[in-house]
Amino acid sequence: MKSVLSQRMSIRTADLERRELPEDAARAVCELAREIVTAVCTTRADRTEAARTLADPTLVAHIDARLTELPAEVSHVLRPPATAAGAAIIGRIPLVDSEFGTTPPTWQAAARWCGDPDASPCSFEFDLVMLLLARCAGEPFGWQGQQDGRLVNNIVPTCGHEHEQSGASSTTLLSPHTEDAFHPRRANLLMLGCLRNPDAVGTTVSSVRRVQLSAEHREILSTPTLPILPDVSYGTGYERGSAIPVPILWSASDPDQQTIRYDPAYTPLEDADPAFRSAYGRLAAELERVCTTAALAPGELLLMDNDVAVHGRAAFTARYDGTDRWLKRVNIRRPERRRRAGEAAENGYGQRVVAPFRAVDAPPLGRSRTRDVVPNDRGSVEHS
Ligand SMILES: [Fe+2]
Repeated sequence: MKSVLSQRMSIRTADLERRELPEDAARAVCELAREIVTAVCTTRADRTEAARTLADPTLVAHIDARLTELPAEVSHVLRPPATAAGAAIIGRIPLVDSEFGTTPPTWQAAARWCGDPDASPCSFEFDLVMLLLARCAGEPFGWQGQQDGRLVNNIVPTCGHEHEQSGASSTTLLSPHTEDAFHPRRANLLMLGCLRNPDAVGTTVSSVRRVQLSAEHREILSTPTLPILPDVSYGTGYERGSAIPVPILWSASDPDQQTIRYDPAYTPLEDADPAFRSAYGRLAAELERVCTTAALAPGELLLMDNDVAVHGRAAFTARYDGTDRWLKRVNIRRPERRRRAGEAAENGYGQRVVAPFRAVDAPPLGRSRTRDVVPNDRGSVEHS
């Protein structure tokens, strides 16, 4: 799909919320991850199998059973972003670069090497760190159709994909987008963890709560007009014919609670009328104006509110020598979050979630609240 922003997009110094994970708390997370790996993987074959998708029931049970052993500061630091920026940088998990081997050339190799301690001695342990942190923030989940359903995705530049609008690209700017905007079950929070970023490549973040739009443009963009199609990481060939138009903006009542659902590279803007295209263009310009950049250092995390902030990545030249940028990514659901009722009717283009973690703090439904219940992989979920 197309890149929709200028390669000359201005990059400003990050002014995102910053949080520090105390050293002893960070060490406790790493130590617990190591203990869980040791407990679950008594043989090399165990490790290979558990590392494949990280959704192994025994592994998940160990994470849930031992989460309360972590210091209380960990959950506090992993709370949803608190400012209008919609994102927070969290520092940091202690890492030793040599313990991760070379940067894998593909996400497939990354997953495979994770189960092989000779190839990447600590990648599996770091995946467990990501899952423990994500579990403190909510319910980590994956997608059956993306990276083989793995709960922790690997983001590495991949030869032949340089110009793609996906995490595997490099030489093209990755346009600001809502993660998995095409799907009603998309994440509420998105967490990126940095293993390696030698050229300080920036992740861009733009919050819808910082943009300025006229009332007319807000109304146009709040009206379902165009569909958003699955991105290329889910394959190709999705038919527009069965696609459901979705609103770009949504706010129950309070403008300060504005949320966004946006992926211009996968939105057939040419199908809209001039008024919609104009409003959409204005929103894109505003998101560019308020854009901030986080050039993550090894061990740093970027926690984003996927309902509030869109993210992208600056263009860079991949090295392909084993030292490339390497990020980990986890989708997180917040069980108390409600999205507009109309999303319950969407089919998500057949994409299904892999969600082995159970809700632990879903609030009871009020008697006056309307409720639609739709089945998913975990049983039933509510959309109100
Ligand atoms: Fe993304």
